[in-house]
Amino acid sequence: MSTVELDRTVYALIADGKGILAADETPGTLTKRFEARAIASTPESRRAYREMLFATPDIGRFISGVIMQDETIHQKSASGEPLAYLLENQGVIPGIKVDTGVTSLAGLPGETITEGLDDLRERLVNYRSMGARFAKWRAVIRIDETIPTPACIKVNAHALARYAALCQEQGVVPIVEPEVLMEGHHNIERCEAVTGSVLHAVFNALVEQRVSLEGMLLKPNMVIPGKQSREQAVVERVASATLRCLRRHVPAAVPGIVFLSGGQDHIAATLHLNAINRLDRPKPWKLSFSFGRALQDEALRAWQGTNQNLQEAQTAFAHRAGCLSAATAGKYTGTMERQNAA
Ligand code: 13P
Repeated sequence: MSTVELDRTVYALIADGKGILAADETPGTLTKRFEARAIASTPESRRAYREMLFATPDIGRFISGVIMQDETIHQKSASGEPLAYLLENQGVIPGIKVDTGVTSLAGLPGETITEGLDDLRERLVNYRSMGARFAKWRAVIRIDETIPTPACIKVNAHALARYAALCQEQGVVPIVEPEVLMEGHHNIERCEAVTGSVLHAVFNALVEQRVSLEGMLLKPNMVIPGKQSREQAVVERVASATLRCLRRHVPAAVPGIVFLSGGQDHIAATLHLNAINRLDRPKPWKLSFSFGRALQDEALRAWQGTNQNLQEAQTAFAHRAGCLSAATAGKYTGTMERQNAA
């Protein structure tokens, strides 16, 4: 498969002022988010929710790509076109989550490995024929007193590299997502140390398995204290720790880094991305977003399960996407937050 095509997709995904919408919650996860708002979860309500997001007028100004889930890529809009075509008509690149979720690692209590390699080549061929041009695989690393173990980091890095190599073979851009979870009592220093070790192992595995670093994107967590930590950190500290960690461990050949939001609220995630981009240090890669919750929470709250609220929901989604777009250039301000909201 030609690298020209991979390059074209990578650079379109990290175009100036744009980021990625992660709308790839499994039906089970989306059901939990719906239930928290008393919204019934059915294939049809999930389809309508995704269509609401994807059909937001002019969303292609701020969103370069959308990560879908297997159920969604098979669904159609109300007018009968596949949702992947709806995205393409908006100038947005369709993407697909291809891991099949996590399972516990035998012999390593509290740790997980992400699965989905067995028939991945065939699934990539199929998803590509349905329009997907990029993919995502999420490895999950949990911090506690005695974890992560080197073994957990190693097997997850190995699986991410196997996935990435298969994607590139099939002309699909891999988003490599090693997520160090925010849950826990750890402080920011521990998050930085663990994130650094994980990134080191991931890039070792990627290079060893001959993944083209130019033809991929990295989707990491920001370096942040654990949610239950008593030592919270100011925005500037998160920004400088995150950039320092990435500069130490992510080769300059990687064109872009698109953060996950990981459970931060939408304002915190926007402030952090903005502050990272404002730092006056060399940054060899584009730094943008691939958010799920922080991009969708306001829209889901406004939608409430009914298209009677379609316009309010789409306005909320476009507002957050616009604020995040500004944050990719370090130009987000509190005034913008209030003005756009009004
Ligand atoms: P969050 O931004 O909600 O963490 O979701 C991003 C994602 O794709 C997690 O895999």
